[in-house]
Amino acid sequence: MFPEIQRVLYTRDQIAERVRTLADEMVIDLKADLAKDGHTELDEDRVIIIPIMTGAMIFVADVVRELPMKLSLGLVAVSSYPGESVRSKGAHFATELPTNLGGKHIIVLDDILDSGQTLALVKEMIAKQNPASLRLGVMLDKQTDRTVDVHVDYVGFEIPDEFVVGYGLDYNGYYRNYPQIAVLDQSAIPKR
Ligand code: IMP
Ligand code: MG
Repeated sequence: MFPEIQRVLYTRDQIAERVRTLADEMVIDLKADLAKDGHTELDEDRVIIIPIMTGAMIFVADVVRELPMKLSLGLVAVSSYPGESVRSKGAHFATELPTNLGGKHIIVLDDILDSGQTLALVKEMIAKQNPASLRLGVMLDKQTDRTVDVHVDYVGFEIPDEFVVGYGLDYNGYYRNYPQIAVLDQSAIPKR
């Protein structure tokens, strides 16, 4: 079914356990923020989770179901890997950013931190709306030279500088549905 997978880095069970721990950390932070504002987790219109599509969709689906509070989702799409490339070509928005983020508690979630350009761009644009709090989270932190330095509050796993797929991460649009996090075999990546 997935012959081009070279080796699995994290299994479904390892991912699920890590996601629960990250979500617990988010709940602690969000509840503290809300309490500072005089709100509770049942109050409406305070917390917005922003997945960077499409890679973050599976991670976010798992995370938000571990957040027992009133929240809404605000999608944003950023493109940096057109087609068959495995290195960022520079991040740019492929959708409009939600416009209702002022005064809200925001957590932006992405599948992976690589050069840092994607999260730095999204953070900068959201900060312009003056949210009450703004945190970033990624499932994977690739150990590579960042072209942009960006602080991430929640990290699932640190991984070596290899191209990975599964659990939402794609190569050329495919493998997002592979349920584990795995290294793609070099033979699947055309040399150019
Ligand atoms: P950055 O802007 O270079 O930090 O890259 C972040 C984006 O690149 C992520 O949102 C992913 O969509 C994509 N990306 C980076 N590394 C990988 C990888 O190993 N596999 C699949 N997608 C990746
Ligand atoms: Mg992405």
